[in-house]
Amino acid sequence: MRFNVSEINECIRTRRSIYPVQFSSRKVHKELIENLIENARWAPTHKLTQPWRFKVYYGNGAAKFGQDHAEMYKSRTAESDFKPVKYRKLKDNGERSSAVIAIIMKRDEKLSVPEEEEIAAVAAAVQNMYLTCNAYALAAYWSSGGCTYTSEMKEYLGLSENDKCLGFFHVGYPDIEWPRKTPRKKRNEITEWITE
Ligand SMILES: Cc1cc2nc3c(=O)[nH]c(=O)nc-3n(C[C@H](O)[C@H](O)[C@H](O)COP(=O)(O)O)c2cc1C
Repeated sequence: MRFNVSEINECIRTRRSIYPVQFSSRKVHKELIENLIENARWAPTHKLTQPWRFKVYYGNGAAKFGQDHAEMYKSRTAESDFKPVKYRKLKDNGERSSAVIAIIMKRDEKLSVPEEEEIAAVAAAVQNMYLTCNAYALAAYWSSGGCTYTSEMKEYLGLSENDKCLGFFHVGYPDIEWPRKTPRKKRNEITEWITE
């Protein structure tokens, strides 16, 4: 064994999404956020395209992002469909987070590998951040709500045509007991063994 497997198992299996409404007011130091990004960049990537990009909205930047996201939702939503609770939540998500990290998939110019593989690579990078948060006892939450997949958000983030925003990774300290397990399918429900 190269590492302490029981600790790694524990880190993977106790990772939970903890939502900004459950964050305390304690702020996460910039160096810890940098360490999340450092670990993200060691995810697997076909042809080493390394499609992950992150925009880190930190401190006042996180609050500003939450306000901008809420306003974006308001301006692109018909009055009859507008939900004040959703507006408030988008705003709060930024205000309560130490950092909101925009998760971006950037395609290389040659489109070297299928898009599916680039999205998978970015998701693996996000999982690295999630596990690192668990190791530090930080609260983390990947959201794909609000305007994540809209052209307005694409423009806001300055993305090129082939790039995609895959959501927002919110980081803070938890103000709750570490959440219990969320339900999972059993191993035999998700696996088929072929032995001959
Ligand atoms: C790509 C992706 C997008 C997600 N988007 C949302 C979201 O918009 N809103 C939300 O409440 N949870 C979102 N989640 C978090 C899931 O709800 C959460 O992972 C799931 O409930 C399992 O809980 P756990 O992460 O604590 O195991 C997202 C998760 C992933 C992987």
